[in-house]
Amino acid sequence: MKGIILAAGAGSRLYPASLPISKILLPVYDKPMIYYPITTLLLAGIRDILIITNPFDIDNFKKVLGDGSDIGVKFSYAVQEVPKGIAESFIIAEDFIQNSPVALILGDNIFHGFGFSSMLKLVGTRTKGATIFGYQVQDPERFGVVEFDKNNKAISIEEKPQNPKSNYAVTGLYFYDNNVVKYAKSLTPSARGELEITDLNKIYLKNDALKVEILGRGFAWLDTGTFESLLQASNFVHSMEINTGMKIAAIEEVAYRMHYIPKNKLLELSKKYRHNGYGEYLEKISKTI
Ligand code: DAU
Repeated sequence: MKGIILAAGAGSRLYPASLPISKILLPVYDKPMIYYPITTLLLAGIRDILIITNPFDIDNFKKVLGDGSDIGVKFSYAVQEVPKGIAESFIIAEDFIQNSPVALILGDNIFHGFGFSSMLKLVGTRTKGATIFGYQVQDPERFGVVEFDKNNKAISIEEKPQNPKSNYAVTGLYFYDNNVVKYAKSLTPSARGELEITDLNKIYLKNDALKVEILGRGFAWLDTGTFESLLQASNFVHSMEINTGMKIAAIEEVAYRMHYIPKNKLLELSKKYRHNGYGEYLEKISKTI
């Protein structure tokens, strides 16, 4: 399974905060936002990751993440010139995807919750059909919305409906089989001029090939789209980390726990940040686990 992180938006809703640098590289408490979606892909067992950025920010992403070899993974980069829709990712990534199934995560989607790792591990092994994730929200009209029948089977998906048929938003994490490139190429732009990810999901739904996993109420799917929600996301990560003494989305730790790097490599990486709590934490993990 290969992975794509879509990080090409201008982030204009966070101007002037995101004027100097992509929103996806802004900090969420103690690490850049992109560490969170990277963690999600790593937990799904994905080590070959394409990062799609806008033309202005690609060098910043490369500076922050490099080629991934430090954490035992492979990062490559591609550009989306104009934000023409989430589903365009698969057309941009065609050469990268080749014959593989592929997961896509939006760069500003932060997931955290009990049982997520095992769910990802399972979904990461599926090679047929598509899997998306539903999460109950108060304001479903802002999202893709999935409707279920009595047996919890998905029966419709609509993008930002005025009258949502359920409270279940479709989150920004998607797993597809290799048909996804062909399907993405068959899409036509929506009224807002985008290749819609919802239209892609509708193809899988019509073919009876769409699974929807529900993320329950103990689960956090965090929004970072406004000044308030970005601060709330930082506060959430801060209080979780303080309460548990464990870090969320420290990619070096995740790589170590996934056996992508050995203990001595983790210790070496911890030295990059030896003057702060992040480095001390990595060092502690390398010495205790
Ligand atoms: O967050 C989940 C929602 O994401 C889903 O429920 C919706 O079905 C899906 O369409 C999408 O909703 P939005 O249309 O509101 O997403 P937005 O335009 O805010 O884009 C999401 C992220 O992807 C954002 O960081 C910008 C980036 N992006 C978006 C587009 C359209 C790109 O990098 N390129 C693009 O072409």
